[in-house]
Amino acid sequence: MQQALAVIVAAGRGERMAAGVPKAFIPLAGVPMFLHSVRTFDAAPSVTAIAVVVPAERVEDTRALLAGHPRATVVAGGERRQDSVRAGLDAMPEFGGVVLVHDAARPLVEVALVEAIVAAAAEAGAAIPVLPVADTIKRVEGGLVKETIDRASLGAAQTPQGFAAALLREAYDAAARDGATLTDEAIAVERTGGAVRAIPGSPENRKLTTPDDLAWAEETLRRRAAR
Ligand code: CTP
Ligand code: MG
Repeated sequence: MQQALAVIVAAGRGERMAAGVPKAFIPLAGVPMFLHSVRTFDAAPSVTAIAVVVPAERVEDTRALLAGHPRATVVAGGERRQDSVRAGLDAMPEFGGVVLVHDAARPLVEVALVEAIVAAAAEAGAAIPVLPVADTIKRVEGGLVKETIDRASLGAAQTPQGFAAALLREAYDAAARDGATLTDEAIAVERTGGAVRAIPGSPENRKLTTPDDLAWAEETLRRRAAR
């Protein structure tokens, strides 16, 4: 089986959540949000090591919380998401398999999706989960609709995103050289001309952004526990 390393980024401030603690540390079903993702990646058969990237002042606490997860290491994140991803990648050993990057803000990710991304990335070099876009999308400028974009060709990108390790490292190095802003990992590969395979994402693998999203996640986890 293909082996994978996972970087879980949890070093954001969670400003839109406005909870007074970093978003990934908000309790969800009784444990910090990021721990849900750590458990899922720990349970994924292909994943052999996990780097959890947290705000610098949380590193010690997080190590204590993860004492029961010997495959997890904890590192301090950076200013931007891409800096946190870099810190996670740098904490990983030299490796020839697949590297996964996942947002701790998507705590409802499931093992099946992790494994599907690992398999697709091993085959194609790069793979991401994508959801169809339900709304009609307009390009709006200065309060005026400029264009309607054909939604059949659009997809909303999720994480985990998976890559052949060397490909991601080279793409990240090139982005750093060019001073590029990265909103996900796939864009680093896209901008160097590399192909990224899109596989079906999961509707429950939502990114929790606002307090309403938290209520939805609690309810969904309750439903899962009952089934
Ligand atoms: N992230 C990170 N380091 C940063 C910024 C973001 O590790 N400097 C992580 C977040 O912890 C999150 C993921 O990237 O798991 C996606 O980011 P987002 O949903 O924007 O989370 P926050 O940046 O924490 O939230 P906000 O933008 O509302 O402040
Ligand atoms: Mg953010």
